[in-house]
Amino acid sequence: MYLYMIICIIGSGGREHAICKTISISSKVSKIYCVPGNAGTQQLAENVDLDINNFEKVLKFLKDSKVDLVVVGPEKPLVNGIVDYLENNGIKVFGPRKIPSQLEGSKTFTKNICKKYSIPTADFGIFEKKENALDFLKSSKFPIVIKADGLAAGKGVYISKNFFEAKEAVNEIFDGKFGKAEKILVEEFLNGEEMSFFIISDGKNFKLFKTAQDHKRVNEGDEGKNTGGMGAYSPSGLINKILEKKIIDKIVYPTLKAIEDMGEKYKGFLYVGLMILNNEPLLIEYNVRMGDPECQTILPLLKTDLIDIFIACCNENLENISIEWKNEKSLCIVLCSKGYPDQFTNNIKIENLKNLKLNNNDFIFHAGTKEEENEIFSNGGRVLNFVSLSSSFKSSRERALKLIEQLNWTNGFFRKDIGYKIIDK
Ligand code: AMP
Ligand code: GLY
Repeated sequence: MYLYMIICIIGSGGREHAICKTISISSKVSKIYCVPGNAGTQQLAENVDLDINNFEKVLKFLKDSKVDLVVVGPEKPLVNGIVDYLENNGIKVFGPRKIPSQLEGSKTFTKNICKKYSIPTADFGIFEKKENALDFLKSSKFPIVIKADGLAAGKGVYISKNFFEAKEAVNEIFDGKFGKAEKILVEEFLNGEEMSFFIISDGKNFKLFKTAQDHKRVNEGDEGKNTGGMGAYSPSGLINKILEKKIIDKIVYPTLKAIEDMGEKYKGFLYVGLMILNNEPLLIEYNVRMGDPECQTILPLLKTDLIDIFIACCNENLENISIEWKNEKSLCIVLCSKGYPDQFTNNIKIENLKNLKLNNNDFIFHAGTKEEENEIFSNGGRVLNFVSLSSSFKSSRERALKLIEQLNWTNGFFRKDIGYKIIDK
């Protein structure tokens, strides 16, 4: 029934190239569009240069092109309600609707659910007035965490060591550094190890979609500024059956119940960002999508046809699908433009890419790239993702590093220590 489908992927990062590559091997797909895509997706799909925030234009394109299924990669269109808009206009979409997307779109929305449903998370306070936040901070223990309420692309989180740093954070947020700020969140600093835990849900049932460990800081040893992610590995070394059960029982089930109690359904990927302390999970944040670069790290491990999984989700039939994985260690290193996450230069030619000899277990996913006259140029802070699978994280890392060295892109930099907690301990 679902033979020869036309699929459209919304987004342009490494995550979307990985999704594109994974569905391109499905026998059920006849054509893929990427809106807007990158130089990597262009090799497998037709890139369409449309503004993904202009839902009307996107809808017209989907109807004109007879698209059977849309897969939404990034959070912004989800939080802005692209799924509601397209579904209400008769399009099949994989991704959560606007209200459940508030799990990522509003930190106070999530914290209020945590409170009501006793979900373990850092103690917190929500403040609408600068003066009240500052009064509270005067008698707080440090370090303390201060967060802007809305979407801030991985920024908007401050870990303040003393009152003066905290005051600066509160001022920056209320002065609109991350957009109009009506609320801020002040929360307890959690001292543990982070883990990304993924599920996929059809609104009635959910399945696990692996774990990963991201490396958010720009410098080796997890120092320096926060980024979108400098590399990842999967599975996380922290996961075990007891912890998995605690995450599901104490965090995932109550959250899905909360969404149901609002009269909504959660359909799509759900990224559960956790802090693990003595084999106990605490929720740090939700994302209503796959992680980037976690997606690039996890999808090469998937054995089941991703299109079957997406269709089962859309049809609320996930229960009848078994999701199978390779029993290998996947590691991803992100090659960035020098200067990222601050100022960097675009349009630098990437020579050599076509000369790299990839084995079956090597994958290069494009992020900020574009193609012009058969040449590849950089077009963003995170440029390429090098992923390798093998029986050990150490050899996966060696292989990914070797490919990056062979590419020898002069404007690039990367972390050589991805996976150090599990490899070098
Ligand atoms: P978030 O945007 O909420 O994921 O926060 C970004 C990063 O800040 C997280 O990945 C953590 O590394 C760190 N972080 C956030 N909240 C806390 C917390 N309560 N305690 C310690 N670190 C945190
Ligand atoms: N890698 C972190 C994120 O996707 O938000």
